[in-house]
Amino acid sequence: MTHGGRLRDKRAVITGAGSGIGRASALRFAAEGASLLLVDQDAAAVEESAAQVHAAGGRAIPVAADVGHEPDVQSFVQRAVAELGGLDAIFANAGISGGDVPLLEQRVEDWERVLRVNLIGVFLTIKHAGALMVDQGAGSIVCTASVAGLRSNAGGSPYSSSKAGVISLVQTAANSFWGSGVRVNAICPGLIETGMTRPIFDYARERGNEDKLGQLNPLQRHGRPAEIAAMAAFLASDDASYVNGQAIAVDGGLSSTHPFRRRMR
Ligand SMILES: NC(=O)c1ccc[n+]([C@@H]2O[C@H](COP(=O)([O-])OP(=O)(O)OC[C@H]3O[C@@H](n4cnc5c(N)ncnc54)[C@H](O)[C@@H]3O)[C@@H](O)[C@H]2O)c1
Repeated sequence: MTHGGRLRDKRAVITGAGSGIGRASALRFAAEGASLLLVDQDAAAVEESAAQVHAAGGRAIPVAADVGHEPDVQSFVQRAVAELGGLDAIFANAGISGGDVPLLEQRVEDWERVLRVNLIGVFLTIKHAGALMVDQGAGSIVCTASVAGLRSNAGGSPYSSSKAGVISLVQTAANSFWGSGVRVNAICPGLIETGMTRPIFDYARERGNEDKLGQLNPLQRHGRPAEIAAMAAFLASDDASYVNGQAIAVDGGLSSTHPFRRRMR
């Protein structure tokens, strides 16, 4: 599978690359010609992603690391530079859902766990990759936020707050890198079938309700990881050279709609 090679000669890091959107992005970036360093806290999963990239003819180094732990982030950024010969793009995609605990039952520890990965993890990735990119005067940082960061009802409140934080962070980071040529953007996926959402899909399939998933958007279906990977590859590439500080929804139109009771056709 080739997509025209618009990431040819690019060196890229993808976090959360052991599953779902991250794995699909690894395959897409490699098909577009990028050399990759793939990061996930699940060592076996990220090795499997790298094996799939190799099998498709691409180049990927798997690294087990925690995006919420600063020494890990510092070390995988340095490793990308040492082993890929530089860093042109980074996709800060790792995230956890934190479950759906009612607001009044949530504990500080629940919030800390989600914010550490979803928001501080993205901050650390921007900090360490951004320092290098600002010095070199070019680079693209892509972050995974969510439609949950735009408005409520797409996750628990720690998750939604963490994703709203990512949207703010890409705006503040893009402005902090003023004049450097480094771009920072976020993708806000809608409902995508991945490891994170598997329980929702399994539950719906068990009940024979699979066709109800994704019905709240005008395309009336859920999304596939490859559809987010396509946007990540675009934002990482020079095709997006004038896109900066944005949070782009890839959600079938979900975030464009108000709740509305339709007449029967
Ligand atoms: N699936 C959806 O519907 C959806 C919608 C909106 C946003 N997102 C976001 O997309 C991103 C990717 O999630 P996904 O849906 O592919 O889920 P997923 O669970 O399939 O993949 C997430 C990956 O991140 C890894 N990870 C988790 N914590 C980590 C850490 N501390 N350090 C390194 N790796 C870590 C996991 O091991 C896993 O491999 C997440 O940020 C998620 O919040 C997903």
